[in-house]
Amino acid sequence: MESIRVRLRFLSYPHVSGIILPSALVTKLQLRPRQKIRISLGKREVVATIFQDRRNQEGNVVKVTSMLKTNLGIPHGGLIQLKKEGETLRIGPAIGIVTTGLKQNARQPIGQRTSFFQKLLQAQEGKGVFYFIFAPNEVDWETNRVNAWFLRPSKQGGYIWKKMNTALPDVVYDRIPSRSAERHEAVQEFKLKLANYSTPMFNQGFFNKWGVHQLLYPNPEVNEFIPETYPSPSLATVRSLLRKYPIVYLKPKNGSLGYGIVKIVHSPGKGYDVSYHNGGGNVKRRFTTLSALYQHVFRTRRASAYLAQQGISLLTFHGRPFDFRVHLHKNLQNEWVVSCMAAKVAGSGSVTTHVRTGGTVIPGDELLNYLFGKQKGLMKERVSQAAIRLATAIEQAKGMDLGELGLDMGIDTHGHVWMFEANSKPGRSIFKHARLKQADIESRNLLVDYSCYLANF
Ligand SMILES: Nc1ncnc2c1ncn2[C@@H]1O[C@H](COP(=O)(O)OP(=O)(O)O)[C@@H](O)[C@H]1O
Ligand SMILES: [Mg+2]
Repeated sequence: MESIRVRLRFLSYPHVSGIILPSALVTKLQLRPRQKIRISLGKREVVATIFQDRRNQEGNVVKVTSMLKTNLGIPHGGLIQLKKEGETLRIGPAIGIVTTGLKQNARQPIGQRTSFFQKLLQAQEGKGVFYFIFAPNEVDWETNRVNAWFLRPSKQGGYIWKKMNTALPDVVYDRIPSRSAERHEAVQEFKLKLANYSTPMFNQGFFNKWGVHQLLYPNPEVNEFIPETYPSPSLATVRSLLRKYPIVYLKPKNGSLGYGIVKIVHSPGKGYDVSYHNGGGNVKRRFTTLSALYQHVFRTRRASAYLAQQGISLLTFHGRPFDFRVHLHKNLQNEWVVSCMAAKVAGSGSVTTHVRTGGTVIPGDELLNYLFGKQKGLMKERVSQAAIRLATAIEQAKGMDLGELGLDMGIDTHGHVWMFEANSKPGRSIFKHARLKQADIESRNLLVDYSCYLANF
């Protein structure tokens, strides 16, 4: 049966577990007055009696007694959904975002990341969901309850954070902040326990570049987008790549934000140029032999933690290479959609396009329009189609639920599309751009939509 949107209110009846519905809704949900029924919220379930609202036969206001509210752990009233599933009446969906580093501070419950999470939760408006943030160690597995932070409208306008006890949710969005937080015992234990609950959790863990390469390179559906790559590169490996390609990139397997990335360019007859960012700025040096260059690079870096990759000659904008951050989401129908395509233009002398090293963000549309004019739609479509094929392939190969991906993709000087990296916990810094606000909202809405899909609402 499909879900029905209702307005939830509470009645002060501490000794009756009951739910009062307009008679039209009782009929629609195929319920009977006075019937005892199992009611669930997230992973909690209790028995309650169905009552018919004599005064309101139509309408969508549903009243729940305070006893039922407390027993189920219903956090608040307002717009929400009811769904009959077998012999159970579900209230929800309850969507929990799991993260670490929570504080007992109602002003900044997630510390410096509070505004990031506040924006995510604001997407609940008009959706009819319970949406909250919680830490792995705040779950009570005996009672299926969790202490969680909710964002509620305040009387003065704006929002306040409120900590409330509620049911373990229907679906969990994994926002554990880092690989090191991921290794904590509390996080590991939480994930193991949740796996026994048949509770979907999406975007689990972090990808590493070599792992993703191994999944995608052999796949004929997407192979054309993946640069040739080798792990733990020896001098011989780098040499053989440079025989095939004029540019080679060296990248840490678990890197991010451009840290540790090295670019090698071979100019026949002249030597080998190496460029990287060393904290202070962009460095460029020329070596006459590749072995001297290799020794220089791996004097301070571990080759076993690196990949060597075919370098792509990126298209340029005002003489600077650019690529794209393509942000993808699953929607309510479980289909991939591109929510944002932002071009990132490299800073002067930088080997990557990160803002950290002088790069700038421009809406993808604007840059493509500037470069391709009428052909812009074609290029945009080419990148989007590639991104959707890649996202589909990654999800299939990983065999886990993914609701969101941030792909780093480029177009080479022949117009061919490439993917450099897939992020399972994409940052949202591109959305700070004034002309990507709509995309920002769209992206946060889609997270709720996909959660509703996974929660089966
Ligand atoms: N093989 C490559 N050829 C050309 N440019 C590359 C290549 N690999 C990476 N880059 C550039 O460096 C940036 C960062 O690389 P990426 O693999 O995304 O690492 P990080 O995890 O540090 O973001 C890319 O967005 C792209 O601009
Ligand atoms: Mg990247």
